[in-house]
Amino acid sequence: MDLERISNYIENLYKDKEELNRKKFQDETELKDFVPVVDDDVARFLKLIVAIGSPKEILEIGTSIGYSAISMAQMVKKYKGHITTIEFDETVAKQAKENFIKSGVDDQIDLKIGDARGIVPNLNKKYDLIFQDVDKRLYPILFDDCIKLLKPGGIFVADDTLFPVIDLDPKWRYLIPSIEEFNELVINDSRIESTILSIGDGVTIALKK
Ligand SMILES: C[S@@+](CC[C@H](N)C(=O)[O-])C[C@H]1O[C@@H](n2cnc3c(N)ncnc32)[C@H](O)[C@@H]1O
Repeated sequence: MDLERISNYIENLYKDKEELNRKKFQDETELKDFVPVVDDDVARFLKLIVAIGSPKEILEIGTSIGYSAISMAQMVKKYKGHITTIEFDETVAKQAKENFIKSGVDDQIDLKIGDARGIVPNLNKKYDLIFQDVDKRLYPILFDDCIKLLKPGGIFVADDTLFPVIDLDPKWRYLIPSIEEFNELVINDSRIESTILSIGDGVTIALKK
């Protein structure tokens, strides 16, 4: 299977349909430095997961400039759900906040500025959906907390979990061992049922039993 051809075909089909797309979003954002966000197919997937399950409480770890949070918030807004998102870079967080306001979803989103390693273990809510998209080295470290923070029947989604097998830019290869460790943790955890989808750079989806 030629994955690039498949991906190009899909993106071409959707190119005129998306109100929010990654390139436009990045182009319209003032912050032009390195600001990674999910691929468009992952944004569509998140939107669908939210539309299907109407999760009331969502936790996102890794906000960046807010593309994935806004993608989810557009759905969340329809049923008055709530997103908590965590970002430790203050400049990036400021840009995310501006983007939330500009997109009309600021009321749906609580942006916590700080290190996820300190914030996540101290959260006192339970979540219906957790989206993990932080520094990949933190995935194994935060995994147990994420599963504990999920309600039974809650969904855990993690981006970039096919890093070990995709044609990854050499500058990101140092992250592969952390993703390999994370994938082993996911697969061997009896609290969840999971699979990995080959969208974006790989997306893990898991259901807490
Ligand atoms: C891949 S980006 C998130 C992209 C975002 N989910 C989107 O698609 O719009 C990862 C973000 O995590 C942030 N980050 C990295 N380490 C962090 C940490 N220890 N605590 C909180 N945020 C962190 C980075 O600054 C970066 O903005």
